[in-house]
Amino acid sequence: MNISVIGTGYVGLVTGVCFAKFGNKIICVDIDQDKIDKINNGIPPIYEDGLKELLIENQSLIEATENIKSAIIKSDITFICVGTPSKKTGEIDLTFVLDVAKTIAKIIKEKDGWQLIVVKSTVLPGTTKDTILPIIEKYSQKKVGKDFGLAMNPEFLREGIAVNDFLNPDRIVIGTIDERSKEILKKLYKDFSCPIVETTLSAAEMIKYASNCMLATKISFINEIGNFCKKLEIDAYDVAEGMGLDKRIGRAFLDSGIGWGGSCFPKDLDAISAWSKEKNYDSKIIDSVIYVNDKQPLKLNEILKKHMPSLKGKKIGILGLAFKPDTDDIRESRTIPIIKQLLKEDAIIKVYDPKAMENFRKLFPDIIYCKTADEALESDAILITTKWEEFKKLNYKGKIVIDGRRLLEAKKARIYEGVCW
Ligand code: UDX
Repeated sequence: MNISVIGTGYVGLVTGVCFAKFGNKIICVDIDQDKIDKINNGIPPIYEDGLKELLIENQSLIEATENIKSAIIKSDITFICVGTPSKKTGEIDLTFVLDVAKTIAKIIKEKDGWQLIVVKSTVLPGTTKDTILPIIEKYSQKKVGKDFGLAMNPEFLREGIAVNDFLNPDRIVIGTIDERSKEILKKLYKDFSCPIVETTLSAAEMIKYASNCMLATKISFINEIGNFCKKLEIDAYDVAEGMGLDKRIGRAFLDSGIGWGGSCFPKDLDAISAWSKEKNYDSKIIDSVIYVNDKQPLKLNEILKKHMPSLKGKKIGILGLAFKPDTDDIRESRTIPIIKQLLKEDAIIKVYDPKAMENFRKLFPDIIYCKTADEALESDAILITTKWEEFKKLNYKGKIVIDGRRLLEAKKARIYEGVCW
């Protein structure tokens, strides 16, 4: 099939490159010329495990361009994969999605033939049907179902392992309003062996949000149990093992620690919370999940203060700035509130992260960036905030270590305390 993908962030590029693997012809569209040049030269502009190899392997099937018009003219299916960031209020910002929808509509107005438009960007339930569809119909002067197709096909990709998640999904969700769109998408995904959920546009959107809310809820839940366990000197990881063996619960996403960060969970939960207020619904569970997550990183500071009541002038080594290992992404990293609090108490902050230092420097230019993890270890106390493999091999002997991510190798420290264990 001939596919255009609008937006070459980690969702768009992974989607395009993975569809090329199945023999489809892909045109990636972006407004950033640097990204376009890189993709055309076989260099992914973002790091994702396995992406470079797949891009090079399928280079003959993948083209990147700034020219959205020719991309849509030359393709039968168009995936919208642009970002939906948060506004300051937590509400979702639909500017990019709506602009792209309008542009696509104006192009298909002039195009003969049937175009299938697929929304992959994460949008609140109802958006595709009630906001995107009217825009496309208005600017194309065409009718959904009759002249063009519309589908909502959410992604469930984790950063860092997005290629693997795309190629080995637990399920594929296809939301449509017309039969033809559904059949085309089922054909596109025919080589995947997982279940395909066929549903409405709005249910597909809700499946994405509800899934992320559930995963974030599992983490906040186990963190709450972990905080309680800590008071009773119970290891929350033993509890997670015992609970996780119940098939109805499952062990995944029950690693207690300092909470969830990243580009998706914070944005999606804030969006659902803000949206439910707008709809006069009091989203108590989701609000509590956010509340627990906001408080969780500071537990590390509290434990540190038990061992070091005054932090003034004390050197505190921080291991880990990325929101999770194997990425340079620091968005909503739990390390940020921890450092803000330490700075309030006049501590001297020495940080190290294998990948995220440059990004972090833009936020905190005045703390000490160590060249190696060992250099950060030369501190009065150490906080472990991201579980990088590299940190397992360090020599913690003689140190004071407060662990937010269950790095048991650090137990050899003189004083070791975990946040929920
Ligand atoms: C997430 C979802 O998993 C993915 O399906 C969605 O489409 C995008 O958002 P991602 O943000 O890349 O993916 O990372 P993920 O691996 O889910 O971790 C999110 C955060 O939760 C990280 O900060 C991680 O450290 C934390 N986490 C995860 C825990 O604290 N405990 C756990 O048990 C699991």
